Amino acid sequence: MNEQIISSITSKRARIGVIGLGYVGLPLVVEFARNGFNAVGFEVDAAKAARINSGESYIPDIPTAAVRELVDSKRLHATTNFDELRDCDAIIICVPTPLRKTKEPDISYIMAAAEQIKRCLRSGQLIVLESTTYPGTTDEVLLPMLEETGLKLDRDFLLAFSPERVDPGNPTFQTHNIPKVVGGVTEDSTLAAAHLYSQIVKDVHSVTSARVAEAAKLLENTFRAVNIGMANEMARLCYALNIDTWEVIRAAATKPFGFMPFYPGPGIGGHCIPLDPHYLSWKARQHGFDSRFIGLAEEVNSRMPEHVVQLVADGLNDARKPMKGSRVLLLGVAYKKDIDDVRESPALSIIDRLQAKGAEVRYHDPFVTKVHFEDAHTQGSGEPLESVPLTDDELRAADAVVIVTDHSNIDYSRVCRLTPLIVDTRNALNGELRKGSVAQIIRL
Ligand SMILES: NC(=O)c1ccc[n+]([C@@H]2O[C@H](COP(=O)([O-])OP(=O)(O)OC[C@H]3O[C@@H](n4cnc5c(N)ncnc54)[C@H](O)[C@@H]3O)[C@@H](O)[C@H]2O)c1
Repeated sequence: MNEQIISSITSKRARIGVIGLGYVGLPLVVEFARNGFNAVGFEVDAAKAARINSGESYIPDIPTAAVRELVDSKRLHATTNFDELRDCDAIIICVPTPLRKTKEPDISYIMAAAEQIKRCLRSGQLIVLESTTYPGTTDEVLLPMLEETGLKLDRDFLLAFSPERVDPGNPTFQTHNIPKVVGGVTEDSTLAAAHLYSQIVKDVHSVTSARVAEAAKLLENTFRAVNIGMANEMARLCYALNIDTWEVIRAAATKPFGFMPFYPGPGIGGHCIPLDPHYLSWKARQHGFDSRFIGLAEEVNSRMPEHVVQLVADGLNDARKPMKGSRVLLLGVAYKKDIDDVRESPALSIIDRLQAKGAEVRYHDPFVTKVHFEDAHTQGSGEPLESVPLTDDELRAADAVVIVTDHSNIDYSRVCRLTPLIVDTRNALNGELRKGSVAQIIRL
Protein backbone atom coordinates (compact mmCIF):
# COMPACT_ATOMS: atom_id res chain seq x y z
CA MET A 1 0.00 0.00 0.00
CA ASN A 2 2.74 2.42 1.01
CA GLU A 3 4.91 1.81 -2.06
CA GLN A 4 1.92 2.34 -4.30
CA ILE A 5 1.02 5.76 -2.89
CA ILE A 6 4.68 6.85 -2.64
CA SER A 7 5.32 6.03 -6.27
CA SER A 8 2.17 7.81 -7.43
CA ILE A 9 3.25 10.88 -5.45
CA THR A 10 6.81 10.76 -6.84
CA SER A 11 5.52 10.52 -10.41
CA LYS A 12 2.92 13.23 -9.67
CA ARG A 13 0.22 10.88 -10.89
CA ALA A 14 -1.44 11.16 -7.48
CA ARG A 15 -4.57 13.29 -7.53
CA ILE A 16 -4.72 15.59 -4.49
CA GLY A 17 -8.02 16.61 -2.86
CA VAL A 18 -8.22 19.43 -0.33
CA ILE A 19 -11.41 19.81 1.71
CA GLY A 20 -12.19 23.40 2.76
CA LEU A 21 -10.86 26.22 0.56
CA GLY A 22 -10.26 28.97 3.12
CA TYR A 23 -7.14 30.75 4.33
CA VAL A 24 -5.42 27.38 4.74
CA GLY A 25 -6.93 25.11 2.09
CA LEU A 26 -6.78 27.45 -0.91
CA PRO A 27 -3.01 28.22 -0.67
CA LEU A 28 -2.40 24.49 -0.13
CA VAL A 29 -4.39 23.24 -3.12
CA VAL A 30 -2.80 25.95 -5.28
CA GLU A 31 0.69 24.86 -4.14
CA PHE A 32 0.02 21.24 -5.15
CA ALA A 33 -1.31 22.32 -8.54
CA ARG A 34 1.67 24.66 -9.06
CA ASN A 35 3.97 21.72 -8.41
CA GLY A 36 2.50 19.63 -11.20
CA PHE A 37 -0.24 17.71 -9.38
CA ASN A 38 -3.81 17.43 -10.48
CA ALA A 39 -5.50 19.15 -7.54
CA VAL A 40 -9.17 19.37 -6.54
CA GLY A 41 -10.66 21.65 -3.91
CA PHE A 42 -13.84 20.52 -2.13
CA GLU A 43 -16.13 23.24 -0.74
CA VAL A 44 -19.56 23.41 0.85
CA ASP A 45 -19.75 27.06 -0.18
CA ALA A 46 -20.81 26.88 -3.84
CA ALA A 47 -19.97 30.56 -4.40
CA LYS A 48 -16.32 29.96 -3.40
CA ALA A 49 -16.07 26.92 -5.67
CA ALA A 50 -17.56 28.93 -8.55
CA ARG A 51 -15.08 31.77 -8.02
CA ILE A 52 -12.13 29.37 -8.16
CA ASN A 53 -13.49 27.70 -11.29
CA SER A 54 -13.85 31.10 -12.95
CA GLY A 55 -10.16 31.70 -12.17
CA GLU A 56 -10.64 34.13 -9.31
CA SER A 57 -8.93 34.15 -5.91
CA TYR A 58 -10.68 35.48 -2.79
CA ILE A 59 -7.65 35.08 -0.50
CA PRO A 60 -5.34 38.12 -0.64
CA ASP A 61 -2.12 36.04 -0.42
CA ILE A 62 -3.10 34.09 -3.55
CA PRO A 63 -3.03 36.16 -6.74
CA THR A 64 -5.99 35.73 -9.07
CA ALA A 65 -3.54 35.28 -11.97
CA ALA A 66 -2.09 32.17 -10.27
CA VAL A 67 -5.54 30.61 -9.83
CA ARG A 68 -6.56 31.47 -13.39
CA GLU A 69 -3.43 29.91 -14.89
CA LEU A 70 -3.90 26.67 -12.92
CA VAL A 71 -7.62 26.46 -13.72
CA ASP A 72 -7.02 27.19 -17.41
CA SER A 73 -4.33 24.51 -17.60
CA LYS A 74 -6.77 22.07 -15.93
CA ARG A 75 -4.45 21.37 -13.01
CA LEU A 76 -6.89 22.85 -10.50
CA HIS A 77 -10.62 22.84 -10.07
CA ALA A 78 -13.06 23.25 -7.22
CA THR A 79 -16.23 21.28 -6.60
CA THR A 80 -19.15 20.86 -4.23
CA ASN A 81 -19.56 17.28 -5.42
CA PHE A 82 -17.89 15.16 -2.76
CA ASP A 83 -18.24 12.00 -4.87
CA GLU A 84 -15.06 13.21 -6.57
CA LEU A 85 -13.22 12.26 -3.36
CA ARG A 86 -13.16 8.71 -4.73
CA ASP A 87 -10.83 9.84 -7.51
CA CYS A 88 -8.32 11.37 -5.08
CA ASP A 89 -5.23 9.47 -3.90
CA ALA A 90 -4.44 11.92 -1.09
CA ILE A 91 -7.14 13.88 0.76
CA ILE A 92 -6.28 16.75 3.09
CA ILE A 93 -8.84 18.21 5.51
CA CYS A 94 -8.61 22.01 6.09
CA VAL A 95 -12.00 22.85 7.60
CA PRO A 96 -12.64 25.27 10.49
CA THR A 97 -12.24 24.22 14.12
CA PRO A 98 -14.13 26.86 16.13
CA LEU A 99 -15.20 26.81 19.77
CA ARG A 100 -18.70 26.29 21.06
CA LYS A 101 -20.26 29.08 23.14
CA THR A 102 -19.06 27.09 26.17
CA LYS A 103 -15.48 27.42 24.81
CA GLU A 104 -15.32 23.71 24.19
CA PRO A 105 -13.85 22.37 20.92
CA ASP A 106 -16.30 22.16 18.04
CA ILE A 107 -14.97 19.45 15.72
CA SER A 108 -18.27 19.10 13.86
CA TYR A 109 -16.70 20.43 10.62
CA ILE A 110 -13.98 17.77 10.85
CA MET A 111 -16.66 15.13 11.45
CA ALA A 112 -18.68 16.35 8.45
CA ALA A 113 -15.60 16.20 6.21
CA ALA A 114 -14.72 12.75 7.59
CA GLU A 115 -18.27 11.51 6.86
CA GLN A 116 -17.82 12.52 3.22
CA ILE A 117 -14.43 10.75 3.07
CA LYS A 118 -15.90 7.67 4.74
CA ARG A 119 -18.59 7.50 2.06
CA CYS A 120 -15.96 7.50 -0.67
CA LEU A 121 -13.04 5.76 1.04
CA ARG A 122 -11.31 3.19 -1.13
CA SER A 123 -8.16 1.16 -0.94
CA GLY A 124 -4.93 3.08 -1.63
CA GLN A 125 -5.87 6.49 -0.19
CA LEU A 126 -3.84 8.70 2.16
CA ILE A 127 -5.91 10.93 4.47
CA VAL A 128 -4.34 13.88 6.28
CA LEU A 129 -5.96 16.20 8.80
CA GLU A 130 -4.58 19.76 8.90
CA SER A 131 -7.25 21.55 10.93
CA THR A 132 -5.92 22.57 14.33
CA THR A 133 -7.38 20.29 16.99
CA TYR A 134 -6.78 18.60 20.34
CA PRO A 135 -4.28 15.73 20.64
CA GLY A 136 -6.04 12.46 19.91
CA THR A 137 -8.51 13.68 17.27
CA THR A 138 -6.81 11.82 14.42
CA ASP A 139 -6.50 8.44 16.10
CA GLU A 140 -9.45 8.57 18.52
CA VAL A 141 -12.04 10.15 16.23
CA LEU A 142 -11.01 9.84 12.58
CA LEU A 143 -9.49 6.36 12.62
CA PRO A 144 -12.55 4.55 14.09
CA MET A 145 -14.85 6.42 11.68
CA LEU A 146 -12.80 5.40 8.66
CA GLU A 147 -12.41 1.80 9.82
CA GLU A 148 -16.22 1.49 10.13
CA THR A 149 -16.08 1.07 6.33
CA GLY A 150 -14.38 -2.30 6.82
CA LEU A 151 -11.18 -0.93 5.30
CA LYS A 152 -8.10 -1.22 7.55
CA LEU A 153 -5.37 1.28 8.38
CA ASP A 154 -2.01 0.42 6.77
CA ARG A 155 -3.50 -2.46 4.77
CA ASP A 156 -5.98 -0.28 2.82
CA PHE A 157 -5.46 3.38 3.71
CA LEU A 158 -3.05 5.66 5.59
CA LEU A 159 -3.87 8.41 8.09
CA ALA A 160 -1.81 11.32 9.42
CA PHE A 161 -1.98 14.76 11.02
CA SER A 162 0.04 17.71 9.74
CA PRO A 163 -0.62 21.10 11.28
CA GLU A 164 -0.93 24.19 9.15
CA ARG A 165 1.24 27.20 9.97
CA VAL A 166 0.18 29.67 7.29
CA ASP A 167 0.48 33.30 8.41
CA PRO A 168 -1.96 35.35 6.29
CA GLY A 169 -0.46 38.62 5.06
CA ASN A 170 3.14 37.50 5.68
CA PRO A 171 5.08 38.26 2.47
CA THR A 172 8.20 36.32 3.58
CA PHE A 173 6.78 33.02 4.78
CA GLN A 174 4.18 31.23 2.68
CA THR A 175 3.13 27.60 2.24
CA HIS A 176 6.25 26.54 0.28
CA ASN A 177 8.87 27.88 2.72
CA ILE A 178 7.25 27.17 6.09
CA PRO A 179 8.62 23.89 7.51
CA LYS A 180 5.91 21.26 7.93
CA VAL A 181 5.48 18.90 10.89
CA VAL A 182 4.00 15.50 10.01
CA GLY A 183 2.88 12.74 12.36
CA GLY A 184 1.16 9.59 11.14
CA VAL A 185 -1.08 7.25 13.12
CA THR A 186 1.34 4.53 11.92
CA GLU A 187 4.90 4.62 10.62
CA ASP A 188 3.77 3.99 7.04
CA SER A 189 1.30 6.86 7.35
CA THR A 190 4.08 9.19 8.52
CA LEU A 191 6.34 8.16 5.64
CA ALA A 192 3.65 8.66 3.00
CA ALA A 193 2.40 11.98 4.38
CA ALA A 194 5.98 13.30 4.75
CA HIS A 195 6.67 12.28 1.16
CA LEU A 196 3.53 14.06 0.00
CA TYR A 197 4.44 17.36 1.68
CA SER A 198 8.10 17.14 0.59
CA GLN A 199 6.77 17.73 -2.95
CA ILE A 200 5.66 21.26 -2.06
CA VAL A 201 7.59 22.23 1.12
CA LYS A 202 11.37 22.38 1.54
CA ASP A 203 11.60 21.15 5.13
CA VAL A 204 9.40 18.36 6.48
CA HIS A 205 9.85 17.36 10.11
CA SER A 206 8.44 13.92 10.89
CA VAL A 207 7.36 13.00 14.42
CA THR A 208 6.45 9.62 15.86
CA SER A 209 2.68 10.05 16.14
CA ALA A 210 -0.29 12.14 15.10
CA ARG A 211 -0.71 13.18 18.75
CA VAL A 212 2.76 14.74 18.86
CA ALA A 213 2.00 16.72 15.70
CA GLU A 214 -1.38 17.83 17.12
CA ALA A 215 0.22 18.88 20.41
CA ALA A 216 3.12 20.67 18.65
CA LYS A 217 0.67 22.96 16.84
CA LEU A 218 -1.13 23.77 20.09
CA LEU A 219 2.19 24.47 21.83
CA GLU A 220 3.10 26.95 19.07
CA ASN A 221 -0.12 28.89 19.40
CA THR A 222 -0.33 28.64 23.17
CA PHE A 223 3.24 29.99 23.33
CA ARG A 224 2.06 33.06 21.44
CA ALA A 225 -1.10 33.51 23.52
CA VAL A 226 0.83 33.29 26.80
CA ASN A 227 3.64 35.62 25.70
CA ILE A 228 1.22 38.17 24.26
CA GLY A 229 -0.61 37.93 27.59
CA MET A 230 2.67 38.73 29.36
CA ALA A 231 3.26 41.72 27.03
CA ASN A 232 -0.29 42.95 27.66
CA GLU A 233 0.15 42.65 31.41
CA MET A 234 3.44 44.56 31.13
CA ALA A 235 1.68 47.30 29.13
CA ARG A 236 -0.98 47.74 31.80
CA LEU A 237 1.64 47.68 34.52
CA CYS A 238 3.74 50.32 32.67
CA TYR A 239 0.62 52.47 32.13
CA ALA A 240 -0.02 52.41 35.89
CA LEU A 241 3.64 53.29 36.54
CA ASN A 242 3.72 55.94 33.76
CA ILE A 243 6.54 54.18 31.90
CA ASP A 244 6.69 53.84 28.09
CA THR A 245 6.05 50.12 27.45
CA TRP A 246 7.39 50.19 23.91
CA GLU A 247 10.68 51.77 24.99
CA VAL A 248 10.99 49.09 27.69
CA ILE A 249 10.46 46.31 25.12
CA ARG A 250 12.87 47.90 22.64
CA ALA A 251 15.52 48.09 25.36
CA ALA A 252 15.01 44.50 26.55
CA ALA A 253 15.13 43.27 22.94
CA THR A 254 18.73 44.42 22.57
CA LYS A 255 19.70 41.35 24.62
CA PRO A 256 21.06 38.96 22.00
CA PHE A 257 20.05 35.78 23.84
CA GLY A 258 17.33 34.58 26.20
CA PHE A 259 14.75 37.22 25.21
CA MET A 260 12.22 37.30 22.40
CA PRO A 261 10.11 40.44 22.04
CA PHE A 262 6.33 40.15 22.13
CA TYR A 263 4.15 43.24 21.87
CA PRO A 264 0.98 44.37 23.58
CA GLY A 265 -2.14 45.20 21.62
CA PRO A 266 -5.91 45.72 21.85
CA GLY A 267 -6.48 41.99 22.38
CA ILE A 268 -5.92 38.85 20.33
CA GLY A 269 -7.89 37.88 17.24
CA GLY A 270 -8.05 35.54 14.28
CA HIS A 271 -9.06 31.93 13.97
CA CYS A 272 -6.03 30.60 15.86
CA ILE A 273 -4.49 32.31 18.90
CA PRO A 274 -7.73 33.07 20.80
CA LEU A 275 -9.17 29.59 20.11
CA ASP A 276 -6.48 26.96 19.89
CA PRO A 277 -5.25 27.07 23.52
CA HIS A 278 -8.80 26.11 24.56
CA TYR A 279 -8.45 22.89 22.57
CA LEU A 280 -5.41 22.03 24.67
CA SER A 281 -6.87 23.02 28.04
CA TRP A 282 -10.12 21.15 27.26
CA LYS A 283 -8.23 17.96 26.50
CA ALA A 284 -6.06 18.46 29.60
CA ARG A 285 -9.22 18.77 31.73
CA GLN A 286 -10.46 15.41 30.39
CA HIS A 287 -7.35 13.98 32.03
CA GLY A 288 -7.78 15.88 35.31
CA PHE A 289 -5.12 18.47 34.51
CA ASP A 290 -5.72 22.19 34.97
CA SER A 291 -3.60 24.26 32.53
CA ARG A 292 -3.24 27.50 34.47
CA PHE A 293 -1.03 29.50 32.08
CA ILE A 294 -3.64 29.12 29.34
CA GLY A 295 -6.43 30.33 31.62
CA LEU A 296 -4.40 33.29 32.83
CA ALA A 297 -3.36 34.38 29.33
CA GLU A 298 -6.98 34.20 28.20
CA GLU A 299 -8.05 36.33 31.16
CA VAL A 300 -5.39 39.02 30.57
CA ASN A 301 -5.82 39.11 26.78
CA SER A 302 -9.61 39.21 26.86
CA ARG A 303 -9.53 42.26 29.15
CA MET A 304 -7.54 44.39 26.71
CA PRO A 305 -10.58 45.79 24.82
CA GLU A 306 -11.93 47.02 28.17
CA HIS A 307 -8.56 48.68 28.88
CA VAL A 308 -8.54 50.36 25.44
CA VAL A 309 -12.01 51.79 26.10
CA GLN A 310 -10.77 53.06 29.47
CA LEU A 311 -7.88 54.85 27.70
CA VAL A 312 -10.39 56.53 25.35
CA ALA A 313 -12.49 57.58 28.35
CA ASP A 314 -9.39 58.94 30.12
CA GLY A 315 -8.36 60.94 27.05
CA LEU A 316 -11.85 62.38 26.55
CA ASN A 317 -12.05 63.17 30.23
CA ASP A 318 -8.82 65.21 30.02
CA ALA A 319 -10.51 67.24 27.26
CA ARG A 320 -13.61 67.64 29.50
CA LYS A 321 -15.70 65.49 27.18
CA PRO A 322 -18.00 62.64 28.22
CA MET A 323 -17.93 59.36 26.34
CA LYS A 324 -21.68 59.68 25.76
CA GLY A 325 -22.21 61.51 22.48
CA SER A 326 -18.51 61.66 21.57
CA ARG A 327 -17.56 60.61 18.09
CA VAL A 328 -14.94 57.86 18.07
CA LEU A 329 -13.26 56.71 14.86
CA LEU A 330 -11.52 53.33 14.84
CA LEU A 331 -8.64 52.91 12.43
CA GLY A 332 -8.61 49.24 11.48
CA VAL A 333 -10.99 46.47 12.49
CA ALA A 334 -9.05 43.48 11.09
CA TYR A 335 -7.35 41.45 13.79
CA LYS A 336 -3.91 42.22 12.35
CA LYS A 337 -2.26 44.53 9.86
CA ASP A 338 -2.74 44.36 6.10
CA ILE A 339 -5.32 41.57 6.07
CA ASP A 340 -9.13 41.49 5.76
CA ASP A 341 -9.91 38.97 8.52
CA VAL A 342 -12.15 40.17 11.39
CA ARG A 343 -12.71 36.78 13.05
CA GLU A 344 -12.42 37.22 16.84
CA SER A 345 -11.03 40.71 16.22
CA PRO A 346 -10.80 42.79 19.41
CA ALA A 347 -12.17 45.70 17.36
CA LEU A 348 -15.65 44.15 17.61
CA SER A 349 -15.54 44.12 21.37
CA ILE A 350 -14.11 47.66 21.47
CA ILE A 351 -16.90 48.97 19.20
CA ASP A 352 -19.50 47.20 21.32
CA ARG A 353 -18.15 48.64 24.57
CA LEU A 354 -17.85 52.17 23.16
CA GLN A 355 -21.43 52.01 21.85
CA ALA A 356 -22.66 50.69 25.19
CA LYS A 357 -21.21 53.85 26.79
CA GLY A 358 -23.08 56.06 24.30
CA ALA A 359 -20.22 56.90 21.92
CA GLU A 360 -20.99 57.40 18.24
CA VAL A 361 -18.64 54.86 16.65
CA ARG A 362 -17.37 54.85 13.07
CA TYR A 363 -14.49 53.00 11.51
CA HIS A 364 -12.13 53.09 8.58
CA ASP A 365 -10.41 49.94 7.30
CA PRO A 366 -9.07 49.74 3.75
CA PHE A 367 -9.39 45.93 3.84
CA VAL A 368 -12.81 45.52 5.50
CA THR A 369 -15.80 47.27 3.92
CA LYS A 370 -18.39 46.02 6.44
CA VAL A 371 -18.41 44.33 9.85
CA HIS A 372 -21.18 42.12 11.17
CA PHE A 373 -21.65 41.44 14.84
CA GLU A 374 -23.90 38.35 14.95
CA ASP A 375 -21.18 35.95 16.01
CA ALA A 376 -19.01 38.42 17.85
CA HIS A 377 -20.10 37.60 21.44
CA THR A 378 -21.09 41.25 21.84
CA GLN A 379 -23.95 42.76 23.83
CA GLY A 380 -24.80 45.65 21.48
CA SER A 381 -27.42 46.18 18.83
CA GLY A 382 -25.72 43.87 16.34
CA GLU A 383 -26.25 46.38 13.52
CA PRO A 384 -23.51 46.02 10.88
CA LEU A 385 -21.12 48.95 10.41
CA GLU A 386 -19.57 50.11 7.16
CA SER A 387 -16.10 51.53 6.67
CA VAL A 388 -16.08 55.30 6.10
CA PRO A 389 -13.57 57.04 3.81
CA LEU A 390 -10.64 58.57 5.70
CA THR A 391 -11.27 62.15 4.66
CA ASP A 392 -9.91 65.23 6.42
CA ASP A 393 -13.48 66.06 7.50
CA GLU A 394 -13.91 62.60 9.00
CA LEU A 395 -10.73 63.02 11.03
CA ARG A 396 -11.62 66.56 12.14
CA ALA A 397 -15.10 65.46 13.23
CA ALA A 398 -13.74 62.73 15.50
CA ASP A 399 -13.35 63.47 19.21
CA ALA A 400 -11.00 60.50 19.40
CA VAL A 401 -9.28 58.14 16.97
CA VAL A 402 -8.37 54.64 18.13
CA ILE A 403 -5.69 52.82 16.14
CA VAL A 404 -6.79 49.22 16.55
CA THR A 405 -4.99 47.77 13.50
CA ASP A 406 -1.72 49.26 12.24
CA HIS A 407 -2.39 48.83 8.51
CA SER A 408 0.55 50.04 6.42
CA ASN A 409 -1.30 52.21 3.92
CA ILE A 410 -2.66 54.80 6.36
CA ASP A 411 -1.20 58.32 6.40
CA TYR A 412 -0.64 58.49 10.14
CA SER A 413 0.97 61.95 10.00
CA ARG A 414 -2.32 63.30 8.58
CA VAL A 415 -4.21 61.56 11.38
CA CYS A 416 -1.91 63.23 13.92
CA ARG A 417 -2.39 66.65 12.36
CA LEU A 418 -6.20 66.56 12.22
CA THR A 419 -7.38 64.69 15.33
CA PRO A 420 -7.34 66.03 18.88
CA LEU A 421 -6.98 62.66 20.64
CA ILE A 422 -5.42 59.40 19.45
CA VAL A 423 -5.34 56.13 21.37
CA ASP A 424 -2.59 54.08 19.72
CA THR A 425 -2.86 50.42 20.68
CA ARG A 426 -0.13 49.25 18.24
CA ASN A 427 2.61 51.87 18.50
CA ALA A 428 1.77 52.80 14.92
CA LEU A 429 2.85 56.40 15.53
CA ASN A 430 6.59 56.45 15.82
CA GLY A 431 8.51 59.06 17.82
CA GLU A 432 9.03 61.41 14.91
CA LEU A 433 5.34 61.68 14.11
CA ARG A 434 4.60 62.29 17.73
CA LYS A 435 6.97 65.28 17.78
CA GLY A 436 5.09 67.11 15.02
CA SER A 437 1.65 66.17 16.25
CA VAL A 438 -0.93 68.49 17.76
CA ALA A 439 -2.92 65.53 19.02
CA GLN A 440 -2.94 64.13 22.50
CA ILE A 441 -1.57 60.63 22.03
CA ILE A 442 -2.22 57.84 24.51
CA ARG A 443 -0.35 54.60 23.91
CA LEU A 444 -0.81 51.22 25.50
N1 LIG B 1 -6.25 31.08 9.16
C1 LIG B 1 -5.07 30.79 9.65
O1 LIG B 1 -4.20 31.65 9.72
C2 LIG B 1 -4.73 29.40 10.13
C3 LIG B 1 -3.38 29.08 10.39
C4 LIG B 1 -3.05 27.81 10.82
C5 LIG B 1 -4.06 26.87 11.03
N2 LIG B 1 -5.36 27.19 10.79
C6 LIG B 1 -6.37 26.13 11.01
O2 LIG B 1 -6.77 25.65 9.72
C7 LIG B 1 -8.15 25.29 9.75
C8 LIG B 1 -8.91 26.05 8.67
O3 LIG B 1 -8.83 27.43 8.95
P1 LIG B 1 -9.11 28.54 7.84
O4 LIG B 1 -8.61 29.83 8.40
O5 LIG B 1 -8.64 28.10 6.51
O6 LIG B 1 -10.71 28.53 7.85
P2 LIG B 1 -11.67 29.25 6.78
O7 LIG B 1 -12.93 29.50 7.48
O8 LIG B 1 -10.94 30.37 6.09
O9 LIG B 1 -11.88 28.12 5.67
C9 LIG B 1 -12.53 26.94 5.89
C10 LIG B 1 -13.32 26.58 4.64
O10 LIG B 1 -13.88 25.28 4.84
C11 LIG B 1 -15.16 25.28 4.25
N3 LIG B 1 -15.90 24.17 4.82
C12 LIG B 1 -16.51 24.08 6.03
N4 LIG B 1 -17.02 22.84 6.21
C13 LIG B 1 -16.71 22.14 5.11
C14 LIG B 1 -16.96 20.81 4.70
N5 LIG B 1 -17.60 19.95 5.48
N6 LIG B 1 -16.52 20.44 3.49
C15 LIG B 1 -15.86 21.29 2.69
N7 LIG B 1 -15.58 22.56 3.03
C16 LIG B 1 -16.00 22.97 4.22
C17 LIG B 1 -15.73 26.65 4.53
O11 LIG B 1 -16.76 26.98 3.62
C18 LIG B 1 -14.47 27.52 4.34
O12 LIG B 1 -14.34 27.98 3.02
C19 LIG B 1 -8.63 25.58 11.17
O13 LIG B 1 -8.51 24.42 11.94
C20 LIG B 1 -7.64 26.61 11.67
O14 LIG B 1 -7.51 26.60 13.06
C21 LIG B 1 -5.71 28.43 10.34
